[in-house]
Amino acid sequence: MKHLLSVADLTRDSATALLDDAERLEQALLGREVKKLPTLRGRTVMTVFFENSTRTRVSFEVAGKWMSADVINVSASSSSVSKGESLRDTALTLRAAGADALIVRHPASGAANQIAAWTGAGEDGGPAVVNAGDGTHEHPTQALLDALTLRQRLGDIEGRRIVIVGDILHSRVARSNALLLAMLGAEVVLVAPRTLLPAGVGTWPVRVSHSLDAELPGADAVLMLRVQAERMNGGFFPSPREYAITYGLSEKRLGLLADHAVVLHPGPMLRGMEIASSVADSPKAAVLQQVTNGVHVRMAVLFRLLVGTEEVA
Ligand code: CP
Repeated sequence: MKHLLSVADLTRDSATALLDDAERLEQALLGREVKKLPTLRGRTVMTVFFENSTRTRVSFEVAGKWMSADVINVSASSSSVSKGESLRDTALTLRAAGADALIVRHPASGAANQIAAWTGAGEDGGPAVVNAGDGTHEHPTQALLDALTLRQRLGDIEGRRIVIVGDILHSRVARSNALLLAMLGAEVVLVAPRTLLPAGVGTWPVRVSHSLDAELPGADAVLMLRVQAERMNGGFFPSPREYAITYGLSEKRLGLLADHAVVLHPGPMLRGMEIASSVADSPKAAVLQQVTNGVHVRMAVLFRLLVGTEEVA
C-alpha cells in the first residue's frame, strides 16, 4: 500500500491487520513512562490541513512523535497558501523539503488523490499520502478507528448491525464507515431525512431508513454524525429543532438500545442537537475511546506506509 486515500485502498485482510497492529502498538506502549518507539526515526511526517481539525491533526502528530518521526504541521493560514500559492506548488514544495508522508485534509473531495498524483513522479514514487478528510468524500483513518472501537466493545464486527445517523449527505465519515464496516461483515443501516442523503446512496452497501426509533432496538451500535452546517449553502432543512426531535439521540431513545449496544460519534459533537449531553457522557458512549484508538490506528497506518508489512511491535 503506497497511499491511504480511500477505504478502497484496503482489503478485509489488510484492514484487519491494521486493527491488529494498532492493538499491538497500544500494548507496546502500555505502562511506559516515556511513550516512544524508535520505529520511524529519521522519517519526516508533514500534516497539511486546509480545514480545521482537533482530533485528526493532533492524533497524527502524537502518532508520529510516539514512533520517533519528525512531525511538521503545515496549516493553510500560516503557509504561503494565504499568499495565493497553488495546491500543486505547495505539495511539490513539501515533497522537495523532504516529506516522507503527507497527511492531507482539504475541503475539496479528491484533493488528497490529486496531491498523490502530483507528488508521485520519480523513482521513489514521492511521499506516502494519507487522506485525513477530503470534502464530503472519505476519511479512511476515522473509519479504521471506529472499527477498532467497535471490535473492542462488541468483540467482533461480522454480523453486527451498525446504524449510522444524520447528515449522510455531507459526511466523509459516513461513506468511509459504510464501506469499511460492510467489508468487515457488518450490516450497515443509514438513518437520515431524505434531504440529508446523497444522490448515489443506492450504490452503497447499506440499507436506508428514515426512522431512528424503528432502527434502535435491533442495533448493536449507533454512530451519530455531526450536522455540517458549514457545507449547507442552501440552508438547514429540517431545522435544528426538527432535526433534534426526529434524529437526535435523546436519553429516551438511548433506552431503546440493547444493553450491549455502543454509541459512537466522530466529533466534534453538537451536544443537544445530534446527541443529548447525558448520552454523550453515558457508559454506552465510546467517544473518548475513539480518540485514543485514533492515535494507535494512525501509528499503525504510518508504520504500514513508511516501513511495510513487517511486525510492528
Ligand atoms: N473526527 C474528526 O475528523 O475530527 P476533527 O475534525 O477534530 O479532526
